Amino acid sequence: MLLEVKNIKKSFGGVKAIKGSTFNIEEKRITALIGPNGAGKTTLFNIITGLLKADEGEIQFRGETITQLKPHDIANFGISRTFQQVRLFRYLSVYDHLRMVENNEDTKIIKNIFKKDKRKVDIYEKILKDIGIDRGIDTLVSELSYGQRKLLNIAMALRKPHHLLMLDEPVAGVNTVVQEKIEELLQSLKEKGETILLIDHDMGFVRTLADHVIVLDAGVVITQGKPEEVLNDPKVLEAYLGE
Ligand SMILES: Nc1ncnc2c1ncn2[C@@H]1O[C@H](COP(=O)(O)OP(=O)(O)O)[C@@H](O)[C@H]1O
Ligand SMILES: [Mg+2]
Repeated sequence: MLLEVKNIKKSFGGVKAIKGSTFNIEEKRITALIGPNGAGKTTLFNIITGLLKADEGEIQFRGETITQLKPHDIANFGISRTFQQVRLFRYLSVYDHLRMVENNEDTKIIKNIFKKDKRKVDIYEKILKDIGIDRGIDTLVSELSYGQRKLLNIAMALRKPHHLLMLDEPVAGVNTVVQEKIEELLQSLKEKGETILLIDHDMGFVRTLADHVIVLDAGVVITQGKPEEVLNDPKVLEAYLGE
């Protein structure tokens, strides 16, 4: 098992956001974590990646307990993620962003960003082509469309060495063309052996893509299994209708 989440609990003041969640992530497949707004999906991502501390419970990654580690150390263990709200620097280029995530041990990073490396240029041009961003690497983030920023976010997460890729709502707010692009990309990543944990709010995207679906509602895993079973489960439909 790549990732084991065991009985995680988390409160914010009086709000019990996560009420004892347990699930596993298997290698080389796409697992979708779905559930209505406010279910606790992003909170679980933040706990797994160390941005938030769980009140109770344990998380193991490749057999090691990571629950008490700092975000930086968890990232170095091989967990790479994107955020629901895209976090990019408007006045830095695509090149700068890809260069930035490559080696977080590198103290000369700022200097390196502004000094272009020819080998990197070729690699990044290929990355952009593969991911479907039809712009040059010198394009500033401020010149990218919303969909292209979402794609760049995924490219950055992919560029970091990792064993698990975690994507928080990668298709939220994008048009159907970009949605299809991301769907194709994730499918091809799975074929290359990537392990992906994906949060999504929209069940349609998950139906075609996920191997395994975990449904969270009000901080509780209410069911999990194959998409065709889970997405037709009356409990799940009720959770979404109650939103
Ligand atoms: N930093 C925080 N402080 C207080 N409450 C929070 C915080 N983060 C999340 N919550 C609350 O926890 C619950 C789960 O939120 P979240 O994990 O963002 O849900 P989801 O990603 O499934 O939409 C919500 O009720 C939200 O308001
Ligand atoms: Mg969220």
